[in-house]
Amino acid sequence: MSKDSQQSHILPDLIPQKNLPRHVAVIMDGNGRWATERKRPRIFGHNRGVERVRDIIQAACELNLKFLTLFAFSEENWGRPKDEVFGIMKLLDTFIIKERQELHRNNIRLRTIGQLDMLPTKTQKLLQETTEYLSQNDGLNLNIALSYGGRSEISHACKAIATKVKNNELDVEDIDAHTVESHLWSSSIPDPDLLIRTSGEQRISNFLLWQMAYCELWFSKVFWPDFHKEHFFEAIASYCTRNRRFGRLSTTLSSSQNI
Ligand code: FPP
Repeated sequence: MSKDSQQSHILPDLIPQKNLPRHVAVIMDGNGRWATERKRPRIFGHNRGVERVRDIIQAACELNLKFLTLFAFSEENWGRPKDEVFGIMKLLDTFIIKERQELHRNNIRLRTIGQLDMLPTKTQKLLQETTEYLSQNDGLNLNIALSYGGRSEISHACKAIATKVKNNELDVEDIDAHTVESHLWSSSIPDPDLLIRTSGEQRISNFLLWQMAYCELWFSKVFWPDFHKEHFFEAIASYCTRNRRFGRLSTTLSSSQNI
């Protein structure tokens, strides 16, 4: 079966509402290979990838998910050819401008994580304005990871904590996991319950390293430009059947943890 024709027939109404993940994170991989298979430039794959971004945001809304985090551009991606980087930034700008109203209509709140000061000034400004514009919405929390690296996020948190210790604002003895968490870019966003990675690669690639301690994983062979709502629902349906124990026994978990 070719990657294109892999279809799933899971519908949102068949997904049990009880064990839904609160937060789903996605590594949208395979745009370049998808385009190369079609003898087209890589940006053609990214362009098609944006259509899937729209679909998956809509799918998350249909399921009433609370948090969706999309890995759109890694720190390492700056090392790609200039025209590809420029092309992705342009797609991002266009997406924000075109989708702003639709995001608002769907009661979606936007947040970004990563080293945003490395982005082009125009993109930074658009993101800032749009985040502000959508800030009162209380439906899906859409997080876009841009110029993001998990190790940089943790290093950044360590630096901030060390500075507080140096300034006598924090006692070394009081540093615990909560201290680190509250200094991450993602503070106030709960840890992801499910990570989806497309394109057949089975690795984390420096994404949400701290936050994924107990995350469930779902790897799909489908390239991102072919990852439709049905594939997303299939991943969610699989998550709903899983028994999460967080290193303990199911019976010792409270009902809120036993998800
Ligand atoms: C990974 O595929 C994809 C990216 C690095 C960029 C993803 C960007 C978009 C989908 C567009 C902008 C995003 C939003 C949120 C509007 P790859 O290029 O690494 O594929 P490959 O592994 O096949 O080379």
